[in-house]
Amino acid sequence: MTAAGTPIAVVTGASSGIGAATARGLAAAGYRVVLTARRKDRIEALAAEINEAGHQATAYPLDVTDRAAVDEFATAFRTIGVLVNNAGGALGADPVATGDPDDWRQMYETNVIGTLNVTQALLPALEASGDGTVVILSSTAGHATYEGGGGYVAAKNGARVLAETLRLEIVGRPVRVVEIAPGMVKTDEFATTRFRGDTEKAAKVYAGVAEPLTADDVADTITWAVTRPSHVNIDLLVVRPRAQASNTKVHRES
Ligand SMILES: NC(=O)c1ccc[n+]([C@@H]2O[C@H](COP(=O)([O-])OP(=O)(O)OC[C@H]3O[C@@H](n4cnc5c(N)ncnc54)[C@H](OP(=O)(O)O)[C@@H]3O)[C@@H](O)[C@H]2O)c1
Repeated sequence: MTAAGTPIAVVTGASSGIGAATARGLAAAGYRVVLTARRKDRIEALAAEINEAGHQATAYPLDVTDRAAVDEFATAFRTIGVLVNNAGGALGADPVATGDPDDWRQMYETNVIGTLNVTQALLPALEASGDGTVVILSSTAGHATYEGGGGYVAAKNGARVLAETLRLEIVGRPVRVVEIAPGMVKTDEFATTRFRGDTEKAAKVYAGVAEPLTADDVADTITWAVTRPSHVNIDLLVVRPRAQASNTKVHRES
């Protein structure tokens, strides 16, 4: 799975939201994108759309928490230019006192161990490219907590620490480590998944907020960060909508 002259960008969680938008953005920026997620039909349809637009994309169904599958996936690459660790999300918004440990476990598995799995497996190919970039989607939840956010905040702190530690450990090698920490992004599935299909609860997250970020806004920041000159490492990019001053300070018009 290498294309002479065309750098490869692997995007995890490319079946919806920020991952899908990032795949489109990186393809338009000249990367051959490899779309991964569990929903095969979604990534295959997106790969077809990107190819029809004259860019290059392939789909590879993958659960980032399945280490054996991730290792098998990695054998397909000798070199890659970019890895975007985007697969993740939140489950529940319960207080610490009543939160479900299984939700906490699952969030840690996906957001931290999933990112660790794919990063470990692809690091040799990133390094072999001579100019690799690892992007880790944390969140503003990885930088400050909020009531009801405990499990997600803990997991995204894990993702942040993974990025910061890796950057220290591989300094001097030709791989950049970029953390992107978005605030409120209105995507089709993030809040619905968090509230297990309760669309009313999900809608309340964005109620009255004039312009939450879109998946395209975040994809744009990711594409910008990875297309800086090789010696420029965007360590951390925090991006929020204008209407959000912190995780808990949000301007709502109604
Ligand atoms: N929306 C926000 O407000 C916001 C803010 C800050 C950070 N983020 C982070 O940005 C990332 C994308 O969020 P989003 O808003 O685009 O949410 P989303 O639409 O729910 O996307 C989540 C993606 O992760 C994939 N995924 C989940 N578990 C997976 C697994 N075990 N293996 C492989 N793929 C998996 C899903 O695909 P499949 O189900 O097909 O596997 C999906 O493509 C997440 O890490 C999220 O935590 C979101």
